[in-house]
Amino acid sequence: MSALAPVLLHWHARHGRHDLPWQQAPRSAYRVWLAEVMLQQTQVATVIPYYARFLGALPDLPALATASEDAVLALWSGLGYYRRARHLHAAARLCMTRHAGDLPRDFDALAALPGIGRSTAGAILAQAWDLPFAILDGNVKRVLARYHAINGWPGQSAITRELWRHATAHTPQQRAGDYAQAIMDLGAMLCTPQQPDCRHCPLRASCAAHAQALSASLPTPRPRRALPRRRLNWLLLRDAQGRILLVQRDGDGIWPRLWSLPETEHAPEAHAASLAQLRAAPRALPLLRHSFTHFQLEAQPLLFDGAHARDAVRDQPALCWYTPQAAAALALPAPVRRLLKQLPELP
Ligand code: ADE
Repeated sequence: MSALAPVLLHWHARHGRHDLPWQQAPRSAYRVWLAEVMLQQTQVATVIPYYARFLGALPDLPALATASEDAVLALWSGLGYYRRARHLHAAARLCMTRHAGDLPRDFDALAALPGIGRSTAGAILAQAWDLPFAILDGNVKRVLARYHAINGWPGQSAITRELWRHATAHTPQQRAGDYAQAIMDLGAMLCTPQQPDCRHCPLRASCAAHAQALSASLPTPRPRRALPRRRLNWLLLRDAQGRILLVQRDGDGIWPRLWSLPETEHAPEAHAASLAQLRAAPRALPLLRHSFTHFQLEAQPLLFDGAHARDAVRDQPALCWYTPQAAAALALPAPVRRLLKQLPELP
């Protein structure tokens, strides 16, 4: 075993986090899994209330498997990256048929489930069963890239492979669950992306980045590349009661099946007029930018006040008028959620 694990375990016992909800008994595979999936792209402080609400509604895997997709998405609403919720739901259904209603205790079987990659599978096995599997989430990548002074963006496959090698070598045979939590806590509490607190770090004597004064410049950032831009108009049709016309997106493309705003590349006023009777010209609200891996979206919100529902549109289930308060309970893309929160008052 490397020297890193005992030092980290010792540090964690005194200074780590011990009161996170997913650390409480019963530390079942289902509870650990749910936490790890929520934490994949979201901060601990944001996850905690969602985690409690989700577990309250769907306390075990069979409850998740029998829930409707809409119910699962509604519980996820506000956390973003809804694909995680869809995968979670699909994986629970697979576990009912393949694994007698529980998560498998086997690495390959776990990693074969939707939404469970190598690191999440390791995190579940380590935390739920104390099995000596390595994890390599964003926190751990940063800690190890610094500890071993690894040059190169961790997203590159050669660098990822090197990091996995180190992650595996450091994972202890005993107390793998505590170790996983310890190294993640170090990354979240001391070895932070900006201004790491090396003065208080238990690894400082053996950290290669610290020795070479590289802590601030490692890990190497993702190489910048210019993303193609896609410009769209987002139509905010608002009626006299303050309700906004929302549209449920189809299952393909970005944000599948989420509720969003009608959008159009060209002729926004004609498109708006096809959806509602209009009274006045729109007001342009500040432009929104949202990055996807392959392009950058620039959305121009156009607010049409005094809009009136058209009968032809009233009967389409994928189009619905919601007050911003009611819309907050739907599965919304993050920029739409922000926009609806910040709408100007009714005229
Ligand atoms: N990030 C991913 N998994 C985590 C965990 N178990 N505790 C804290 N942060 C995490």
